[in-house]
Amino acid sequence: MVTWRIEPLASPRQIDEILTIEEASFTNPWTREMYLADLDNRGVSYCFTAQGEDGHIVGFCSVWRVADEIHINNLAVKPEFRRRGVATALLTHALAEGARLGAQRATLEVRRSNEAARLLYERFGFVVAGIRRGYYTKPIEDALVLWRESLKRDK
Ligand SMILES: CC(C)(COP(=O)(O)OP(=O)(O)OC[C@H]1O[C@@H](n2cnc3c(N)ncnc32)[C@H](O)[C@@H]1OP(=O)(O)O)[C@@H](O)C(=O)NCCC(=O)NCCS
Repeated sequence: MVTWRIEPLASPRQIDEILTIEEASFTNPWTREMYLADLDNRGVSYCFTAQGEDGHIVGFCSVWRVADEIHINNLAVKPEFRRRGVATALLTHALAEGARLGAQRATLEVRRSNEAARLLYERFGFVVAGIRRGYYTKPIEDALVLWRESLKRDK
C-alpha cells in the first residue's frame, strides 16, 4: 500500500493543482478566489493535500471548523489515482486534526447518486441524518446530509 503524504495547502501556487482536480471531479468546481479566501481564513478553514513521491498533489480535502463541528466542504482525488487509498488517508487525517482541535462531530453533504463517496463515508461511521431537496445543480439532485459523531473515539 502506498503511503500518501498529507500536508496543509501551503501556497497559492498549489491551488492550480487543486483546481485541475476540482474540474475533473465536480460540475460546479470551486474557483481560485474561493480557495484564496479559504487560505486567508485561518483558524476556520483547513485544506489538506495528499502528495505522491514527486510532490504533486493527487487529492485534497477542505474543511471548516465551526465551534465543535468539522464541516467537510470538498474531497476529491485525481481520477487516475482513485481506489488507492488517497481519500481514506485524507479523511483520516482531517478527522484526526478536527478532533485535535476540539471538534466532537463532523458533517458533510453528498449527492444521493454518489455511490463511491457514500461508501467511503459509511466506512468512516457517517450516517444519513437528513435530505436537502434539489440542493445540487448541474444536474439538480438531492443532497444527503451525513453526520459522524464521537470524533474522538477513533480515526
Ligand atoms: C469519492 C472519492 C473521493 C474516493 O476517493 P478514493 O481515493 O478513490 O477513495 P479510497 O481509495 O480511499 O476508497 C476507500 C473506499 O471507499 C469506497 N469507494 C471509493 N471509490 C469507490 C467506487 N468508485 N466504487 C465503490 N466504492 C468506492 C470503497 O469502499 C473503498 O475501499 P476499497 O477500495 O478497499 O473497496 C473519489 O472517487 C472522487 O474524487 N470522486 C469525485 C469527487 C467526489 O465525489 N467527492 C466527494 C464529494 S462529497
